Amino acid sequence: MNSEELKRLPVTLVTGASMGIGRALAEAFARKGHHLLLVARSGDLLEALAEELREGYGGRVFCCASDLAEHNGPERVFRFAAQHDLAVRILVNCAGISRAGVFSDLPFHDLDTIVSVNVIASAKLIRLFLPEMLAERKGTVINMASLGGAQGVPGLALYSATKSFMITLTEALHAELDGTGINVIAVCPGFVDTGFLEKAQHGRHGIKLPVYAVSLVVRAVLRSLEKPRMLVYPTLLDFFLVFLQRFASRKTAVRISGFFAAAKGNR
Ligand SMILES: NC(=O)c1ccc[n+]([C@@H]2O[C@H](COP(=O)([O-])OP(=O)(O)OC[C@H]3O[C@@H](n4cnc5c(N)ncnc54)[C@H](OP(=O)(O)O)[C@@H]3O)[C@@H](O)[C@H]2O)c1
Repeated sequence: MNSEELKRLPVTLVTGASMGIGRALAEAFARKGHHLLLVARSGDLLEALAEELREGYGGRVFCCASDLAEHNGPERVFRFAAQHDLAVRILVNCAGISRAGVFSDLPFHDLDTIVSVNVIASAKLIRLFLPEMLAERKGTVINMASLGGAQGVPGLALYSATKSFMITLTEALHAELDGTGINVIAVCPGFVDTGFLEKAQHGRHGIKLPVYAVSLVVRAVLRSLEKPRMLVYPTLLDFFLVFLQRFASRKTAVRISGFFAAAKGNR
């Protein structure tokens, strides 16, 4: 390590840190003594959380308000880290959005936004920060995927496709980076109790699976850092739902996932 690298502050970067799972992860990392770089659009929420975490845990917390749907959103985050001499050791790609309903009704503009945030921004952030991790021979990338990425989900067609992308990207990078000191992990939660479903206009009443607490996702992520695994399922039920697919046809798995998710709306 040269002297230039020595003076840089190692941080954990969490996208989508203003609320929900990202916010809970940021708090858990702060409690464990990590310095943080928080990213989301809502700068005011990030600053309020940063203040809380600095006071509560004493670490350094930086905020970068950036719209990851914008073409230059990820580059802005990368430049911010460079300008503040931050070395990103853990990258958590948690920002994500969804829109429930049949694909033919999906507002056209949402196609761009969902793919930009869930897919492009995550891939760009990995590509931007990976060379530094490789140079240090140390680092972890945590991609927030979903159980919905294990197969297509009718009513969540585009969203489930973006989460499949996160899973296959993780799998390929995990193998590419074997022996480099860098871990790549995809976390695949089922339904989690945040504001995410309401924003996606995904009514909870029809969902046939438990909508579980954020703390279960946080626990699974922290465990995955201690015992690295490629794919992480926060609950046993999540694991079994994917495992059982081995005994069904792909078409059946898709139909069942559509039944559980109940996201097709009234059509
Ligand atoms: N909740 C679930 O049931 C569930 C299940 C499986 C997987 N997941 C995945 O878990 C992740 C977090 O979900 P959550 O439940 O915590 O959702 P959430 O509470 O709605 O939080 C989403 C986060 O993403 C950020 N975000 C959204 N659009 C953005 C943009 N254009 N640029 C930058 N940041 C943006 C939001 O911040 P701003 O609005 O401030 O920008 C917010 O911090 C997502 O990737 C989601 O797909 C969720």
